[in-house]
Amino acid sequence: MKTSRIPGFYNMDVAERRKILTDMELFTNEETEFLFSKEALQVETADNMIENVIGTYPLPLGLGLNFLVNGKEYAVPMAIEEPSVVASASYIAKIVRNAGGFKTEATDRVMIGQIQVVGCPDIQAAKKILMDKRDSIIKDANAAYPSLVARGGGAEDIEVRILNEDSDSTFNQMLVLHVYVNTCDAMGANIINTMVESLAPKIEMLTEGKVYLRILSNLPDRCLARSRCVIPSELLASDGYSGEEVRDGVIQAYEFAATDPYRAVTHNKGIMNGIDPIVIATGNDWRAVEAGAHAYAVRDGHYGSMTRWSKDNDGNLVGELELPMSVGTVGGSIRVHPMSKVSHKILGVESARELAQVIVSVGLAQNLGALKALVTDGIQKGHMALHSRSVAIAAGATGELINIISQQLIDKKDIRIGKAKELVEEYTK
Ligand code: MEV
Repeated sequence: MKTSRIPGFYNMDVAERRKILTDMELFTNEETEFLFSKEALQVETADNMIENVIGTYPLPLGLGLNFLVNGKEYAVPMAIEEPSVVASASYIAKIVRNAGGFKTEATDRVMIGQIQVVGCPDIQAAKKILMDKRDSIIKDANAAYPSLVARGGGAEDIEVRILNEDSDSTFNQMLVLHVYVNTCDAMGANIINTMVESLAPKIEMLTEGKVYLRILSNLPDRCLARSRCVIPSELLASDGYSGEEVRDGVIQAYEFAATDPYRAVTHNKGIMNGIDPIVIATGNDWRAVEAGAHAYAVRDGHYGSMTRWSKDNDGNLVGELELPMSVGTVGGSIRVHPMSKVSHKILGVESARELAQVIVSVGLAQNLGALKALVTDGIQKGHMALHSRSVAIAAGATGELINIISQQLIDKKDIRIGKAKELVEEYTK
């Protein structure tokens, strides 16, 4: 994408927005026709994806604009039902691009497979045997998935942990083998599960214990992505609030979330408001990303803020977000779901590491959007404009009436379904 700045996109109709994507040569006319004119996910395809299919459940797909990450432009596909999220991400991304954009990095994509072993006659001896057999365990894991090794990935390391070591009863003592696997551009759940299942008989033989669970861990703390932004405070000024006021409010809001789990969970939900929609749009497993993110937020034993906001020596607002990011650009439903293919084409990421870095940047932007609103006007002002449209539709308004009813609800400061129904009745009688 040459630029993710598309002034006026917000005010265009859907057809005009799609035309822009064609004009930007992201899609040919035929592709645009094919991708957007049909039911996005055909029920026949859906029937091959999960069980007991009776239909599909579409979500709005919007574009988060203005993202500049490590100097590269990204329009971010976001699948979400909640109003204001896409607008807020785009608004903050515009501020951050004026401050030089997001700077990001990511570790290698090392995921974890766990094997639980119980009933070892000598748990310390079992641990030692597994460590002594490290190379052969890694070799066997890779033999279970040779195509990954051919792509430059594969099992790289192991770790052996003993859980409940001090327990009086040996019943709940267990040995847990971690297999660390570089899954390259795949999220890796199938790869890891295949590897650990194939290793189980060997592990039982070596430890003389019994293997129960053989499964991926959704806390991939060796598969991290980080994003950072540094924003001069004057760029944060708005509607009667000075940049310094907003900056200090954001830092105080962060301190609140860092200290209080009741606030942290809402603060972090706001971060996931930005992360989940792109994870969903790109065909990735958003439950895995959610689970990993929240577990990472409590890694030191205290559940706190996923982001960190501070002030540097020049008075700039500095934002940072580091999260485990188990997403892929191949495998799973990524090449099956047509809208996921569209999303990947719009995003133009070349690897899962790159995708992970864009995702954490969107999460960081989303968090700042929420905090900036919360420390100034509150979120309802922006939220209610779009919410009022949903309320009008739910009350039975169609066509032009949606605008009329939604505006009346805003003017009357009474955005309730009951009021909307009254107004619809008035206008249609
Ligand atoms: C609403 O979906 C998200 C917020 O509650 C996040 C936050 O409070 O930081 C606005």
